[in-house]
Amino acid sequence: MNFQSNLIKKKTYHIETYGCQMNVADSELVESILIDEGYEKSDDINSADAIFVNTCAIREQAEEKVHSQLGRYNLIKKNKPETLIGVLGCMAQNLKDDILESKPYVDIILGPDSYRKIPIILKSRQDNSKNIVDTKLSRYEVYKDLFPKRQSGINAWVSIMRGCDKFCTFCIVPFTRGRERSRDIHGIIEEVQQIVDNGYSEVTLLGQNVNSYNFNNLMFHNLLEEIAKINKLKRIRYTSPHPQDITKDLLHVMKEYDNICNYIHLPLQAGSNKILKRMNRTYTRENFIELVQTIRKIIPNVGLSTDIIVGFPGETEQNFNDTLDLMQEVKFDSAFNFKYSSRPGTKASEYEDQVDEKEKQLRLQKVIDLQKKHTLELNKKLVGTIQKVLIEKESKLSSDQWAGRTDSNKWVVFNKNNSVVNNIVEVQIEKAKGITLHGKILQKMEAA
Ligand code: 5AD
Ligand code: SF4
Repeated sequence: MNFQSNLIKKKTYHIETYGCQMNVADSELVESILIDEGYEKSDDINSADAIFVNTCAIREQAEEKVHSQLGRYNLIKKNKPETLIGVLGCMAQNLKDDILESKPYVDIILGPDSYRKIPIILKSRQDNSKNIVDTKLSRYEVYKDLFPKRQSGINAWVSIMRGCDKFCTFCIVPFTRGRERSRDIHGIIEEVQQIVDNGYSEVTLLGQNVNSYNFNNLMFHNLLEEIAKINKLKRIRYTSPHPQDITKDLLHVMKEYDNICNYIHLPLQAGSNKILKRMNRTYTRENFIELVQTIRKIIPNVGLSTDIIVGFPGETEQNFNDTLDLMQEVKFDSAFNFKYSSRPGTKASEYEDQVDEKEKQLRLQKVIDLQKKHTLELNKKLVGTIQKVLIEKESKLSSDQWAGRTDSNKWVVFNKNNSVVNNIVEVQIEKAKGITLHGKILQKMEAA
């Protein structure tokens, strides 16, 4: 009996993911490859036969986290030398020499375009103990015909394009993920149909520059419209777009289809024209404000979030005040705020007028404080309104309450009242507290 179960015992993998949603989606692809190779997922890192880490290189802090995790894997491997350790993604691409030199216990280093190599590598590992490295970037790889092993839940990630051609001077992504390429529209639609058939309510379309999608001159708004027509798909979101490629066609498609969420993540980065130019962002503050006005005119209840970087090289107090000023003028619903982090290899890392770390911290705090004020102010305006909320999970505050998001991407906590996860319900908003709305269910809109 024991002998038999040993024979059929599957090898196990454990995977950890850092960074953006693209990485989450990529890890799901890697998992599907591993499962096809006969591996089984393990939540216990200490007993797994193979440990993979999907890495992010966008800021120094993200890399530091991975370095410390790698130290942990090394300890596991010391106890269990046969454990396979694989570093995947942007840091693998960017720091392969460093990893090879300083972390000899890493067995496999694969960049974001090399995941199809995993089966060959796993086979060759059986009779070869050298490190295996593949970080070639591809002009074509979009992982066509590979279906991700999705986590169960409400939302499914669908990667529609890869890479970035924008070359913002602060950003490492064009170097780690290579040139822009878009997936075949038919493959995407087929995949979304399958996702709906599998019971997911929401899809989020992903790409480093999601709205630069172009497949044989079918543009992002064409794709979005085709997806919106898929029966029973309750909600469609997308991230991250570049302001330059937000077209009126896109806004009109968003307005026309109820199942496309009225929410746009619109990364500003900075409010000063001097800094925007140095960042190579391709728009001015005036262009950005005009774009926000156009968006709000076409989609009146739109939720807008943004990314802001403080302390970019050469950012004076006055330049920084221009960012605060623009935030005042636009009033975003939410923001992801970052201190500039110098990335070796990017153009901005060569600029000599780097901003002092302490000053960056002060500026970051000012941006955070202002955004908190705006979020609360905008959320308070929703008190008394009725919002459609897709129930996603139990609230952390109480087991009697659900948490879900409005169409415009705001979290709402409310009483359960016999509704279940996956329902879209009408919630009367009663209170705005911190970044969350609180309310009570009025009625169930539709069955899950
Ligand atoms: N330093 C700080 N923030 C950065 N981002 C990208 N590169 C850097 C960097 N070097 C931020 C940008 C981008 C988000 C994903 O990460 O705001 O929109
Ligand atoms: Fe980086 Fe700019 Fe490309 Fe976004 S658009 S991934 S910030 S280079």
